Amino acid sequence: MNYNKKTVLDVDVSGKKVLLRCDFNVPQDKETGEITSDKRIVAALPTIRYLLDHGAAVIACSHLGKPEAKFDKWVKKQTEKGKDPATLTEEKWKKSLDKLTLAPVAKRLSELLGKDVIFAHDVVGEDAKAKAAALKGGEIMLLENTRFEAGETKNDPELAKALASMAELYVSDAFGTVHRAHASTAGVAAYLPAVSGLLVAKELEVMGKALDDPKRPFVAVLGGAKVSDKIAVINNLLDKADTVIIGGGMAYTFAKAQGGEIGKSLLEEDKCAYALEMIEKAKQKGVKLLLPVDTVAATEFAADAEPHVVDAMHIPADMMGMDIGPKTVELFCAATKGAGTIVWNGPMGVFEFPTFATGTKAMAKALAESGAVTIIGGGDSAAAAEQLGFADKITHISTGGGASLEFLEGKELPGVACLLDK
Ligand code: 3PG
Repeated sequence: MNYNKKTVLDVDVSGKKVLLRCDFNVPQDKETGEITSDKRIVAALPTIRYLLDHGAAVIACSHLGKPEAKFDKWVKKQTEKGKDPATLTEEKWKKSLDKLTLAPVAKRLSELLGKDVIFAHDVVGEDAKAKAAALKGGEIMLLENTRFEAGETKNDPELAKALASMAELYVSDAFGTVHRAHASTAGVAAYLPAVSGLLVAKELEVMGKALDDPKRPFVAVLGGAKVSDKIAVINNLLDKADTVIIGGGMAYTFAKAQGGEIGKSLLEEDKCAYALEMIEKAKQKGVKLLLPVDTVAATEFAADAEPHVVDAMHIPADMMGMDIGPKTVELFCAATKGAGTIVWNGPMGVFEFPTFATGTKAMAKALAESGAVTIIGGGDSAAAAEQLGFADKITHISTGGGASLEFLEGKELPGVACLLDK
């Protein structure tokens, strides 16, 4: 994929109306609706400040959650979930939408910027259009949740056109959403000159360099529960890295595939053949593929379960693997020593339970102390590094979960492909 794309620095933004796609899909408290992490809002600030300081009128937009924009579809989905259709009123549907308004984000953004953020109560309706028309250079407004429009996730050209009609330039800074071909992430670029914001530019530069021209040795550390989620990543990284380390839940499928006994551990039986294929591919490519040699297992999946260190190929029948064992920690950490680049995606065990967080913590520490260019590909491993206190020692923690995974898979990202080449 070509990620040499024009950025806000390559175009004149002064006096222009700029439609800025951000990823303000922030986590919220289920009860109070309070934003529990404003990391994604903070990540958008450099581009917003740059645009405002250079005299642009910023029309920011984002999705939040997965609202159902049509009442009949909402009823259908709720019924499928087992809800009684007689209780599914239009009022309840509207309440479900109200929970996903971007109004709290506008408030938080305003606090962080130290200036007013005008909030439009619709996406491309009368309110948005009137406020966008009146917006002056140096001012910022935020549109309502783009997914309140049914055409958003369908990449409807009419919606893309309506969004574009409010602005003169499109800036994509929603890295977490560039893997979606939606109206506000990709479609709109058909109607406006389109460039990246500073966050997207940085993500592409750091991760693109790691994949295409890494400082070697290049070590990829892959974890997470399921092999099926990581198939394309393992395959792609075996083409690029010098060492590939596999831990986490998916390692049990690799153990089983090689004739190991894995007890009650996570297993994707239908991925055993794939696991053997990857082991073979690593051999042929001369890539060092490291798998756990021991495992911390328990009889139940619980925070207070008693940990037992067992051989990775002989997990007792009544136990399940919960973390990598101490010998594996040593093996994996030693493999990161002297690395030029380390990319990490996916925890080594059930790190939400402190008893079983040792392996993930050790990997985070190894990355932090490696002296290598270190990149964490979003999602759970990013949360782990933050939770365990190593975030500030990592070169780059991606703001994308699904997006960074697709990037590591080598897939074309629609929200990047649609931008102007340099
Ligand atoms: C994310 O949180 O990964 C992005 O905001 C994309 O959200 P989505 O999975 O709802 O498209």
